[in-house]
Amino acid sequence: MMQVAPSLLSANFGQLDTEIEMLNRSAASMIHLDVMDGRFVPNISFGFPIIEAVVRVATKPLDAHLMIVEPDLWIERLAKLGVAIMNVHQEACTHLHRTVQGIHAHGMKAAVTLNPATPVCMLEDIAADLDMVLLMSVNPGFGGQKFIPNTLQKVRRLRELLDRTGSRAIIQIDGGVNLETGKKLAEAGADCLVAGSFVFESPDPLQTISELSKLK
Ligand code: DX5
Ligand code: ZN
Repeated sequence: MMQVAPSLLSANFGQLDTEIEMLNRSAASMIHLDVMDGRFVPNISFGFPIIEAVVRVATKPLDAHLMIVEPDLWIERLAKLGVAIMNVHQEACTHLHRTVQGIHAHGMKAAVTLNPATPVCMLEDIAADLDMVLLMSVNPGFGGQKFIPNTLQKVRRLRELLDRTGSRAIIQIDGGVNLETGKKLAEAGADCLVAGSFVFESPDPLQTISELSKLK
């Protein structure tokens, strides 16, 4: 089964409870929260008030994708809120090993994200400590962008690196995912697909999530 992580970024924030209740009933494995600070990425999305509102209604694990500088500052607060997976960018962490240790010490799963231009070899010495690796298949900051095809080779290289280092991390992909790119990603070795606009702009999001989950 392909894990699906719908990204709330493309949801209707005027009806957040309804959107989350729909995700609760769906085949989604987790709910993906895109936090942007206007510094690491050229956009600002949402922060703690919205995450708190999501926590109150969500019954699925929350996957917080932090597109922010200095994510270490927020480990404790995210853990207290009940976030299940704390996902930081490799490019934002000078002391990535320390960050990963801190996330685990606070009882969360640790995930690391790579931008499209960051090679998977950057994870060589941390892979064994990770629960998930996220490869960005667009430049982070916005929903609705076009999938970067080079991601497929990166997934295969990451699979090889994880096997070689004895890592049990799952491979998540984020950006421009639809049934067509999702199928190729499944073949390349992806375990989990993030999908924002494809899910929320589809006529039947529940059906779309179900179709994505059947890609593997
Ligand atoms: C992009 C975010 C993504 C985004 C994906 O910066 O990290 O999670 O919401 O949106 P789609 O699926 O529309 O490309
Ligand atoms: Zn994301």
